[in-house]
Amino acid sequence: MRISVVGCGYLGAVHAACMADVGHEVLGIDVDERKVADLSAARAPFFEPGLPEVLQRTCATGRLRFTTDVAAIARPPGADGPTVHFVCVGTPQRRGEFAADTSYVDAAVSALLPHLRPGDLVVGKSTVPVGTAARLADRIGEAVPGAALAWNPEFLREGHAVEDTVHPDRIVYGLPPDPDDARRAKALLDEVYAEPVAAGIPVITADYATAELVKTAANAFLATKISFINAMAEVCEAAGADVTTLAAAIGHDDRIGARFLRAGLGFGGGCLPKDIRAFMARAGELGADQALTFLREVDAINMRRRTRMVDLARQEVGGSFLGRKVTVLGAAFKPDSDDIRDSPALNVAAQIRLQGGDVVVTDPAALENARRAWPDLRYEEKVEVACQGADVVLLLTEWREYRGLDPASLGEVVRARNVLDGRNALDAQLWRAAGWNYRALGRPRG
Ligand code: UDX
Repeated sequence: MRISVVGCGYLGAVHAACMADVGHEVLGIDVDERKVADLSAARAPFFEPGLPEVLQRTCATGRLRFTTDVAAIARPPGADGPTVHFVCVGTPQRRGEFAADTSYVDAAVSALLPHLRPGDLVVGKSTVPVGTAARLADRIGEAVPGAALAWNPEFLREGHAVEDTVHPDRIVYGLPPDPDDARRAKALLDEVYAEPVAAGIPVITADYATAELVKTAANAFLATKISFINAMAEVCEAAGADVTTLAAAIGHDDRIGARFLRAGLGFGGGCLPKDIRAFMARAGELGADQALTFLREVDAINMRRRTRMVDLARQEVGGSFLGRKVTVLGAAFKPDSDDIRDSPALNVAAQIRLQGGDVVVTDPAALENARRAWPDLRYEEKVEVACQGADVVLLLTEWREYRGLDPASLGEVVRARNVLDGRNALDAQLWRAAGWNYRALGRPRG
């Protein structure tokens, strides 16, 4: 199968590499020259476990190439058969609004149009407001009769992107309304995903609107689940109860399930926060805003956790950050990622800095990105150095190396043994036994 992938960010680069790995001929296109240079040299432009290995494997076969020149997707002379063009560009939140900015998706389709041939299939993977696919399908159909559009949302998690791409939970095809176009689109997608389809991974076919909504509904549910447990954490704090025990107990009920019930600093990243806001904005445009007003509360609970963490840290250092050193473990929005988009950890770090604290941040992968976005904060690579003379240590991203820290030796370098566990990831007993004043979100003081 000949495939092009427009947009080589966290989603597109992984998709391109994994598609080449299963034997397709793939061309990745991105406007960012540095990214294209990295990918062409089989270097991952961001931290994603497993991606460097897939890139090295596939670039060596010659099946995977990258370019900044969209004209390179033109069908090579003499080649026949359709090309499948994946659109994997971002849909960030519009400045000052809840709605998603779909201009990159529109621009990607505009760039593709002059090179499309009848029989080609454009496949949208970006997370878009419902209705976008129908609009794009009209544009494609008018410009290139015989070319079609499908919507194939992506559910990958950063940090597990390769695994999620190769072994997804489900594959969703949003197909064109015309039955012949739908049959053709489905056949092409079945060929692209021949391996997972043969492995029995469920394929759900739907119309465009349903396929688009599957993605936003899934993210809205996940965000709601996290904010639900964080709301319980607020109640636990007020009642002197322990949210981690509560989560474990309710999680045993299959109908509830234990996953995504980790209470703490809440969700961040490039997807959940902006996707729930864009979903509310779109529902409003459709006249269904009442249906999603609860997502405002989900968002508010999530943001309150960050303020609560700052308040707790201030309490721990005696009521004011002035003259106090605060060490923040973690800058990425979650472990196994260098992504700092809407990172709860950096949000807390920046709030404390603004309140006069001397903040030092450390992270195994995200320091370079963090330094660029928040030059005002201090950064240290080594945990022990970052913790030197600290009045309080905040665990804000639960990297494995932080979960396994030795509280006794860390206790030697800090000024005061105060630790705040923003992710409920440390062994409270162990830290307390080593003389630390351990506090966590949603748990009693101990
Ligand atoms: C999410 C969705 O999971 C994925 O399906 C979608 O395609 C994109 O958005 P991602 O943003 O990579 O993926 O991260 P995810 O693992 O979902 O975590 C999101 C945030 O929630 C992180 O900040 C994480 O720390 C937080 N989280 C997650 C919790 O606070 N508690 C939990 O129990 C789980």
